[in-house]
Amino acid sequence: MEEKVKALQHEVESFLVKSKEDLENFRLKFISKKGSVSALFDDLKSALPEEKRKLGKVVNDLKQLTESKFKTFQESIENLASSDQEIMDLSLPVIPNKTGNLHPLNLTRYRIIEIFERLGFNVSDGPEIEDDWHNFTALNFPENHPAREMQDTFFIEKNPDVLLRTHTSNVQVRLMKNQKPPIRSIMPGRVYRNEAISARAHCFFHQVEGLYIDKNVGFSDLKQTLYHFAKEMFGKETKIRLRPSYFPFTEPSAEIDISCLICHGEGCNVCKYSGWVEIAGSGMVHPNVLRNGGIDPEEFTGFAFGMGIERITMLRYSINDLRLFSENDVRFLRQFKSVV
Ligand code: PHE
Repeated sequence: MEEKVKALQHEVESFLVKSKEDLENFRLKFISKKGSVSALFDDLKSALPEEKRKLGKVVNDLKQLTESKFKTFQESIENLASSDQEIMDLSLPVIPNKTGNLHPLNLTRYRIIEIFERLGFNVSDGPEIEDDWHNFTALNFPENHPAREMQDTFFIEKNPDVLLRTHTSNVQVRLMKNQKPPIRSIMPGRVYRNEAISARAHCFFHQVEGLYIDKNVGFSDLKQTLYHFAKEMFGKETKIRLRPSYFPFTEPSAEIDISCLICHGEGCNVCKYSGWVEIAGSGMVHPNVLRNGGIDPEEFTGFAFGMGIERITMLRYSINDLRLFSENDVRFLRQFKSVV
């Protein structure tokens, strides 16, 4: 009988339980009334009286071992079920990460804001549906300026005129009316022009306006600010060039060009073989505009600039078609996942 107990003990010890069914099999096989450990007690009855004590202890020990094993198995199966764990197969391919990412235009907008915020500029906002005064008249546009014509501006109502703003400069006079100098603000937003859609133009796009008004603000401040911006945005090696230009609301006015990022000035088709790419319009705020904003031009001066977010994004990521930004093709948009 001792042999039998030993063999059974070995069986109990080597039994593996991995599931609820295994656990039930263990119970039936050893512990239940008809189980083999229970059967040992019947065998015990017919043992010789002098062996009974010794055998009784051995059988009891095995019974305890079997029961404690059962308990341990039971607990581990319950834990497995409650934590919903499964045995992990580390050789399986990973589940693809489907989190979204920022639109490339927003990546650029946030980068522009970051650069100017470090120079002490705050961020302001203005309406996209605008009146004639803030979009044109207050900005010193003459009555017959071509930008007012139907082919450039989307008019919503005539007399009095309500329109979709053609630039972010509409926020300039609103800011001046609402706060006294010093004003140091950038104004990102969407603008609208009635243009045929192509790889280089769209009927809506995005700009960032900048305005700095204080005592003794000069043209050198404008130049240094935009030079700093160009280096931060496009890299330390970037150069800028100021080209004389005309805007009704700035005097003097200048277009800001940066050295071509693709050919570094050698000449290529991105810069149309000039070595330079235009990124912004700028100038010293016209005294009439300051007056329209309630600011005395004898006391304060300032500069303003406006840059296209699409243009900067295209240069930054070498994108050659503006329409990609609004087509919502995820194959294009997903490429900006890791770019911040
Ligand atoms: N508003 C001008 C444009 O849309 C850009 C600009 C802004 C120029 C501020 C000078 C000063 O082209």
